[in-house]
Amino acid sequence: MVHLRTGRFITLEGIDGAGKSTHVPWLAGEISARGHAVIATREPGGTPLGETLREIVLREPMSHEAETLLMFAARREHLDRVIRPALARGDWVLCDRFTDATFAYQGGGHGVPEQRIRELEQWIHGDCQPDLTILFDVPTEVSRTRLDLAQAKGRALDKFETEADAFFTRVRAAYRARAGREPARFRLVDSTRPLADVRVALAAHLAALAAAAD
Ligand code: TMP
Repeated sequence: MVHLRTGRFITLEGIDGAGKSTHVPWLAGEISARGHAVIATREPGGTPLGETLREIVLREPMSHEAETLLMFAARREHLDRVIRPALARGDWVLCDRFTDATFAYQGGGHGVPEQRIRELEQWIHGDCQPDLTILFDVPTEVSRTRLDLAQAKGRALDKFETEADAFFTRVRAAYRARAGREPARFRLVDSTRPLADVRVALAAHLAALAAAAD
């Protein structure tokens, strides 16, 4: 029997300050140690056009609809040029944010109708969905404290990071609702836990995915 090797698509999600990006290099190392080629990438971004669009959406004031469309424009480039080719080669893709972020931020946070986002999702990547989504969950107060600390250390906060706490509470609720609706894809990680504990949880989720992939 011919065994077709297929890559796996993992996305990382959470509100700003949830700490997910800290885990990207470590997760990539773990995947690679399991013998898989891995690409670590991010959204919005991941391609030259995507990174240019990232600068624009993270800095410029615009309507919520324009923001939603730019997220999907960047995403389509990313899918065509990076994600789909990598998966077709059998590589694993580790993506810091994907369409769940649009549902959570533009949908939950800004009130863009979910149905509109679903239509765009269907059009842009109806055939390509993450195999595993890790939701780094933290209460809004924890996220705010971490962002305040980053700012105190001299990092300029972007347009989303300076949103009010109520915005992040809505974004978090939207993420958690999505995770509740798709338990087979989502794994929720308590990101208030010490780094070592979070890594134990992440390693277990990777092991389960790798077992399912073999
Ligand atoms: P990052 O700080 O995790 O790199 O993400 C950049 C910001 O972009 C973050 O505040 C969330 C936001 N974002 C959206 O609002 N919608 C999206 O679809 C994506 C991918 C990110």
